[in-house]
Amino acid sequence: MDVALAIRQKRAIRTFAARSIHDEDARSILDAGRRAQSSKNTQPWHFVAVRDRATLTALTEAGPYAGHVARAAMAVVIATPDPAQRWSIPFDAGQAAAYMQLAAWELGIGSCLVAVYETEKVRALLGIPDDLHPYAALSFGYPDDPADLTRAPRAAGRRSAADVIHWERW
Ligand SMILES: Cc1cc2nc3c(=O)[nH]c(=O)nc-3n(C[C@H](O)[C@H](O)[C@H](O)COP(=O)(O)O)c2cc1C
Repeated sequence: MDVALAIRQKRAIRTFAARSIHDEDARSILDAGRRAQSSKNTQPWHFVAVRDRATLTALTEAGPYAGHVARAAMAVVIATPDPAQRWSIPFDAGQAAAYMQLAAWELGIGSCLVAVYETEKVRALLGIPDDLHPYAALSFGYPDDPADLTRAPRAAGRRSAADVIHWERW
């Protein structure tokens, strides 16, 4: 993979083709999350991979912007210890999410993050233990329009370097 290109081109994909993800590719995506860096190498995560259509549909209740999960080929719920316990937990979960998204992109598979607000609903749906917190989820699937994976970045898609980057001092 050309990492710089992947970072530049990866976009949130929310419309998916009706095509399943092979086991081997699903495992590659999950392994990328498992290999992510984490604070003190604590690896504070479990990944619940969902491919059952009824469960994917039920996961749309995870939060107000989770509708795309219903059309995904796979969702991965990232369960962590209570994110309020340690500063690093949300950061680590984000690292794992980003790695999975980049690994998927290389396979031609799109993805989109889902902020999980309905923690207890998701916990009950997936049987997640009480000491873990379904913190975020990801939709994965082949994009409806394959060109979405390689489209040039939108002109105003990201804040400019001049706006964001400060050398030496603010
Ligand atoms: C922490 C975080 C939470 C997000 N939550 C959602 C969400 O709940 N639903 C959704 O559709 N997209 C969600 N997204 C995707 C963002 O909307 C998307 O990454 C952003 O708009 C940039 O899109 P682009 O890469 O296509 O330009 C989330 C992204 C992040 C990093």
